[in-house]
Amino acid sequence: MKHFILVAVLVAILTVLVGFGLDTIGLMPELASLQGVFIDQLFRMHIWVISFLFALIIGFMLYSIIVFRRKEGEQGDGDHFEGHAGLEIAWTIVPLGIVMYFAFLGSTALAETRRADPNAYNITVTGQQWSWRFDYTDYGFSSDELRLPADRQTLLMLTSTDVIHSFWVPEFRVKQDALPGEGMERELRITPTELGRYKVRCAELCGTQHAYMLADVFVVEPEEFDEWAEEQLKGVSDDPVERGEVWFGQFGCTACHSIDGSDKVGPTWMGLYGKEEILADGATLIVDDAYLFESIREPQAKIVEGFETVIMPPTGASMSDQQIQDVIEFIKSLGE
Ligand code: CUA
Repeated sequence: MKHFILVAVLVAILTVLVGFGLDTIGLMPELASLQGVFIDQLFRMHIWVISFLFALIIGFMLYSIIVFRRKEGEQGDGDHFEGHAGLEIAWTIVPLGIVMYFAFLGSTALAETRRADPNAYNITVTGQQWSWRFDYTDYGFSSDELRLPADRQTLLMLTSTDVIHSFWVPEFRVKQDALPGEGMERELRITPTELGRYKVRCAELCGTQHAYMLADVFVVEPEEFDEWAEEQLKGVSDDPVERGEVWFGQFGCTACHSIDGSDKVGPTWMGLYGKEEILADGATLIVDDAYLFESIREPQAKIVEGFETVIMPPTGASMSDQQIQDVIEFIKSLGE
C-alpha cells in the first residue's frame, strides 16, 4: 500500500509539471476567432489527459526501476501473476468512458464552430494553383486579400478551379477544404475577435508552389471595413495598364508569372511582348495581342518550348474580354 501512495504522489507531481509545461510553451498561435475558443478548450483538456497518461506510465516505470531493482545477491525470479479480472474490466471500461466523453465534447465543439448567424455576410473564396481570390458577393467586388470586420460572422463559400486546396488561418483555428467542381462548395464560418494581420495558408499539397499559396488577412474595425469596401466599389482606374496590374493580382497570374524577369513556373512577363518564341512543335511566332489573348483564354492552344509539362489553370475562362485586354496592356508596359 505504501508503494501505491508514493506512486500516486509521484504521478500527481509529474502530471502537474508536464501539464503546466505544455501549457506555457505556447503550442498554439494567438487565438483570433470566436470559433477557435471551443477548439482551444478541447485542446487544453487533451493536454491535461495526455499529461496524466504520460505521468502514469513514466511514474510507475521510474518508481519500479528504482525501488524494485535487483538487490545484491538476489538470484530468483519475481512473483508470477495469472491475470486479474477486476483490473482488466476497469482498464477497459474507464478508457472507453473517457473516449466517449471526448467524442461528446468534440461533437459539441464542432456544432459550436458551425453555429450560423443569420446576419453573417458572404464571401466566395476561390483557390487555384497557387493563389486565393475573394469575391465579396454582398458588395460586388473582388480582392486578392481577405479583409474582415471584427466581431461579425462571415460565411465563406469555398471552391476551387483546379485541384483540392484547403483554407487555413491558424489564428482562427478552423480549416476547410476548397474542392473543384459544380455543387462541391464547402462552408466555413469565422467570427474574428482580434484586430490584426494574419495569413491564409493552403493546407493541402496542391503542386510545386503549394508552400507559397498565401494571402493576407486583415481584421479591422467595422467602420474601417466599410470605408475599404466603398473604395473597392469605386472601381479601378481608367488606365488599362493599372487595371491590368489589378487583374494580375486578383486572378492569381502572379503565382506563376514574374514581372521582373525571374523564372517562376510560367514565362516571365518582363520583355515578353514582341519577343520571338519557339513553340513545342518547332514553329516560331512573335508575341502579339492575338497570341496573348488566345494563351490567356485557352492556355493549352500553343505551348512554348520548355513549358510542355506545365498546365496553366483555365483562369482566363472567368475573365471578361476587357480584363484580358487590360492584362495585355499591362504586359506591354513591362517592355518589349
Ligand atoms: Cu493550394 Cu496547396
